[in-house]
Amino acid sequence: MALFKSSTQEVPTTGAIPKHIAIVMDGNGRWAKSRLLPRVAGHKKGVDALRRTVQACAEVGVEYLTVFAFSSENWRRPAEEVSLLMKLFIRVLRKDLESMHSEGIRLRIVGDLSAFEPELRAAIDYAQELTRNNTRFNLNVAANYGGRWDILQATRQMLIQNPELAQHPEQITEANLQPHLCLSDCPEPDLFVRTGGEQRVSNFLIWQLAYTEFYFTDRYWPDFGKPLLMEAIASYNQRERRFGRTSEQLGLSAQADRASAN
Ligand code: FPP
Repeated sequence: MALFKSSTQEVPTTGAIPKHIAIVMDGNGRWAKSRLLPRVAGHKKGVDALRRTVQACAEVGVEYLTVFAFSSENWRRPAEEVSLLMKLFIRVLRKDLESMHSEGIRLRIVGDLSAFEPELRAAIDYAQELTRNNTRFNLNVAANYGGRWDILQATRQMLIQNPELAQHPEQITEANLQPHLCLSDCPEPDLFVRTGGEQRVSNFLIWQLAYTEFYFTDRYWPDFGKPLLMEAIASYNQRERRFGRTSEQLGLSAQADRASAN
């Protein structure tokens, strides 16, 4: 399994198209409410938006998309909505699996899956196994995921596999912990997008977002697709990604790159 170095340990290479985009798909409920529809109608339209976004990302050369489908805190919603969301996940996993597989998409579900019903867990296992060797595009769906949970589970795994570290905590480094985090074999997100007007991270990928660029839009998730994705990427392209360095250093390294290319 290829491991990517953390952006705090090594400056990653970046380009005009973000390699990895992370999205908080927010606003399904308000989209539905504004049309006098039940909230679940918004979630169903949200699935269509996700399909469009996967297609658009793959078309423009994004390699990884990680979406927040259900947070560890979403269990606090009314039981009926949680149950409808679970049914929707199972239905989508079954309905879209063959087409995702034939399009070379690797599907991964990240989060504490132990809380889900056996039927959903079985559908997840099957989908992950079937698409395991696909390389054209990576779709990661965070479900019952929380960034704090991720850091805790990684810490536990690290100590289980290296019990001597408990006796020598001074030897614990980022490099020890990082391989145990969810998505340790994906580059860290270059761009974080949140729809629906709120400007917060909501316990998504808090470790992995250390040097990610943030983009917020008031549009609701069911309206998302290629045009809004391109707006987010255009905004990303206005940013100067310094990873702790100064603007002057960036200018010098660009000059050096041009000189070595000539
Ligand atoms: C946030 O909108 C959305 C969710 C909690 C669910 C997102 C799920 C989907 C888009 C379905 C994805 C399906 C699969 C299979 C991955 P909200 O309900 O918080 O909206 P609101 O803020 O307007 O109330």
